[in-house]
Amino acid sequence: MNHLEFQRHRRLRSSAGIRAMVRENHVSVNDLIHPLFVVEGNNVKHEIPSMPGVFHFSLDNFRREVNKVSELGIPSIILFGVPDHKDECSSQAYAEEGIVQKAIRVAKEENPNLVITTDVCLCQYNPAGHCGIVENGEILNDPSLELIAKTALSHAQAGADIVAPSDMMDGRIAAIRHTLDQNGYLNVPVISYAVKYASAYYGPFREAAHSTPAFGDRKTYQMDPANSREAMREAESDVREGADMLMVKPALSYMDVIRQLRDRWDLPIVAYNVSAEYAMVKAAAQNGWIDERALVMETMTGFKRAGADLILTYFSKDIAGYLKEGY
Ligand code: PBG
Ligand code: ZN
Repeated sequence: MNHLEFQRHRRLRSSAGIRAMVRENHVSVNDLIHPLFVVEGNNVKHEIPSMPGVFHFSLDNFRREVNKVSELGIPSIILFGVPDHKDECSSQAYAEEGIVQKAIRVAKEENPNLVITTDVCLCQYNPAGHCGIVENGEILNDPSLELIAKTALSHAQAGADIVAPSDMMDGRIAAIRHTLDQNGYLNVPVISYAVKYASAYYGPFREAAHSTPAFGDRKTYQMDPANSREAMREAESDVREGADMLMVKPALSYMDVIRQLRDRWDLPIVAYNVSAEYAMVKAAAQNGWIDERALVMETMTGFKRAGADLILTYFSKDIAGYLKEGY
C-alpha cells in the first residue's frame, strides 16, 4: 500500500506505445536542409578528411547526389561553392557561370521540386578569405553590401529558391531584399544567418570550403560567443530588414539562443548543426565510443525542443534513412 502522496511520472513511460503517445517533439524529414559542396572539374567526389560522408562534388557527380537526396525525401539542399579562381572582387561569387550558379541550374534540371537554398558569402571567393571586402587589413561593411546583394541576385537569376547570407555585415538583409525586389524576385525568401558566432566549430568547414582567413580572424563581424542579448539585437535588425527565417549558428552550444529567438519572434527558426559538431560525432562513432544513430537523433530532437523548426545538418541523409527505418 502506498500511503504517501506523490506523482507517478513513470506511468507515462511504461511502454513504447505510451511514450510515443505523449512525445512532445518530433524530427521529420521535412525539417532537414542538406549542405552540399560543389567544385569545378569532372568526376570529382573527394571526401573531406575531417567530415566522413561529406564530399566535394563536381557537377556530374552532384547531379547524381541531387537525385539521392531527393529520393530520401529531403526537401531542401544548401549549396556551398568552392571556386577554382579567387580575386579581390570575389568575382566568381556572382558570375553567371560561377560554380554555384551552374549547380543551381543542374539541380533544377534534375528535380524542379527540390528547394535550392544558397549560402551567400564572399569568403570562398577572395584570397583574403574574409566575408567582405578587405582594405588595409580591415573588413569594410558598406562596400561589401553591394557585392553580397549582387551574389544573392545572381543566385536568384540562376533559379535559387531561397538565399541565405552568412557574411554578418550590417545591413545585408536590407541590401539583398532591395536588390531582389528591384529585379522582380519578390518571392525569393531570405534565411538570415542572423545569429552567427565567431566559433571554433567551423574548422572542418573551412578546410572543406578553402575559406580559412589568410590573416586575423572573423571576430570583428561574427558574434562573441559570450553574448545572447546581442543576439536579440542582431535578430531584431534582420527581422526589420525583411528576413523570412532566422538561423542560429552553431547550434549545440547555443540552444538557449534558439529558445530565446523562438519565444520572441514568430518567424521559422533554423538551427545550423555545424561542421565540427558533425566531425566530433563521426570521430567518436568511428572509435566505437558512441551509438551514433541514437546520439544523432537525440541531438536533433534537442534542437526541436529548443525551438528550431528546421535543421541544417550534414547528418540529413543519415537521419532520413533512420526515419525511414523507424529509428
Ligand atoms: C562562411 C561560412 C562558414 C560556415 C558556413 N558559411 C564558415 C565561417 O564563417 O567561418 C560554417 C559552416 C560549418 O562549420 O558547417 N561564411
Ligand atoms: Zn563567409
